[in-house]
Amino acid sequence: MSKSIAGFSKLSKSEKIDWIVETYFSNTDNAKRILKQYWNDDEILQQLHDEFIENTISNYYLPLGVAPNFLINDKLYTIPMAIEESSVVAAASKAAKFWMNRGGFKTQVISTTKIGQVHFMYYGHVETLKTFFNYIKPKLIEHATPITKNMEKRGGGIIDIELRDKTQDIKGYYQLHASFETLDAMGANFINSCLEEFAKTFKKEALVFDAFSAEEKNIQIVMSILSNYVPDCLVRAEVSCKVEDLNEDKTISSEEFANKFVQAVNIAEVEPYRAVTHNKGIMNGIDAVVLATGNDFRAVEAGVHAYASRNGKYSSLSHAKVENGIFTFWMEIPLALGTVGGLTGLHPLVKLSLELLHHPSAKELMQIVAVAGLAQNFAALRSLTTTGIQEGHMKMHLMNILNQFEATPIEKETLTAYFKNNTVSHSAVVDAIKNLRLKHNN
Ligand code: MEV
Repeated sequence: MSKSIAGFSKLSKSEKIDWIVETYFSNTDNAKRILKQYWNDDEILQQLHDEFIENTISNYYLPLGVAPNFLINDKLYTIPMAIEESSVVAAASKAAKFWMNRGGFKTQVISTTKIGQVHFMYYGHVETLKTFFNYIKPKLIEHATPITKNMEKRGGGIIDIELRDKTQDIKGYYQLHASFETLDAMGANFINSCLEEFAKTFKKEALVFDAFSAEEKNIQIVMSILSNYVPDCLVRAEVSCKVEDLNEDKTISSEEFANKFVQAVNIAEVEPYRAVTHNKGIMNGIDAVVLATGNDFRAVEAGVHAYASRNGKYSSLSHAKVENGIFTFWMEIPLALGTVGGLTGLHPLVKLSLELLHHPSAKELMQIVAVAGLAQNFAALRSLTTTGIQEGHMKMHLMNILNQFEATPIEKETLTAYFKNNTVSHSAVVDAIKNLRLKHNN
């Protein structure tokens, strides 16, 4: 029977575990053993992980894989990917190799502006508010100097602050809509600190602004927070080659493949049910690199899907065309990433991943991440429009099923060889294991 507890966060890690296993598990020793199995022997490293969040009881592993042979703007990369889905790294590697032999990926950062907003309520005259805003704007920036001065030294900082009238949407609702350049930092802490300072100054100065009536002086700050919608923090990734150079698959001509591929992208452009899955495939690549490099994949996900709906209908993030015998496949995607701050200087595997990528700037990382997304999308569409997705997917999933049945190394070898020429399905693998074990026992 579940029960509630007061003061849980104050308990020690082992007291927390004791409470959990005793409250929720029938086999308390086994539950404890599993949790502890994932602790790191290095106590300092374990403590580092314990302190990332509150109430840590263990570590949750994801595989960290690498996809080599990514040629991006004529420079070769091996891309780290943290992901549990069996086929993703294999697909990325395959797409990387395919495009490495066809000129590689071309990328370009289009913009790097991030947004934050102070949301507030004001029920007085709009013209007086505008006058106040114009008067106070330099002070908003000046009072934030202790927060912005280091960023400014490096060439970033506050770009602008606008007053936005949102009273069409909600009575009395206005915003300070601020734009920022945060250089190599993702910038959430920087932006939120600036916004909270703006809010403080704005509220305080309103109280002594003579042109306001007593009521107008009482501006209500609702909240101050960055936006994860970053349509002006945009990167483009592209591949192209002659249609005749596309072919690797003997079962389909280059022209037929190129046309089917473009059709598949066109479908994702007009059909939201397909677009969501199409974009999910892109995010397979994006999230894996975002995670491996210690970035905030929830922020990226939220921003990307909002961008995919920017025209009022959810649509494909990628596009493809054939023109004058040239196949081009590209994507523009908003990515707010950092290569300093947050986990990037803390998590040893994140640091290692960034070193593997030649210590990229945030702009370089945007390009690498976009490429991982485009490569993943290419791999998925290539399978979908030729062999179908299940063939490759189930081949990769084979190992998961074998592990479920605790297959020995010899069984794994035998069955992997067997399924090279046979269709993988869950039941086919189960039958094959049973038969192998029967044969072995007889
Ligand atoms: C599976 O994780 C991703 C795909 O469904 C993407 C797609 O359909 O394009 C294969």
